[in-house]
Amino acid sequence: MEWDDLVKAACEAATHSYSPYSHYPVGAAGLTDDGRLVTGCNVENASYGLTLCAECGLVSALAASGGGRLVKFTCVNAAGEIITPCGRCRQVLLEHGGTALAVLSPAGVVTLADLLPQAWGPADLEESNGSL
Ligand code: THU
Repeated sequence: MEWDDLVKAACEAATHSYSPYSHYPVGAAGLTDDGRLVTGCNVENASYGLTLCAECGLVSALAASGGGRLVKFTCVNAAGEIITPCGRCRQVLLEHGGTALAVLSPAGVVTLADLLPQAWGPADLEESNGSL
């Protein structure tokens, strides 16, 4: 699947955004290692801090559709511009794509390791458990 296809899917997902507070729709799209397309959109809440980013919807769709690993990811705003995932969502993506996840960012294609250097992840937890 080409990056253009992922951008199109993210744009379509953004049309389903529930963002009455920020008026900033976001759509996210990812490709899994077995070739599935998963998408998500942001869903806001009157208790603002409970907002679900588009990436949260995407990883929920990933799990609900069979799990697996993300290999490509991008997210867009309502104008179809590529945006960069927020800090929390970088960590959420790390769990399901690892540091090698290819991300189409405003600066071009980078890896998640570029966006989240020295990331703390599942392996660190395993190392910690091993030392107990
Ligand atoms: N948003 C996302 O969905 N993903 C991001 O990575 C950045 C921010 C949403 C959250 C909120 O609904 C809106 O964008 C404005 O912050």
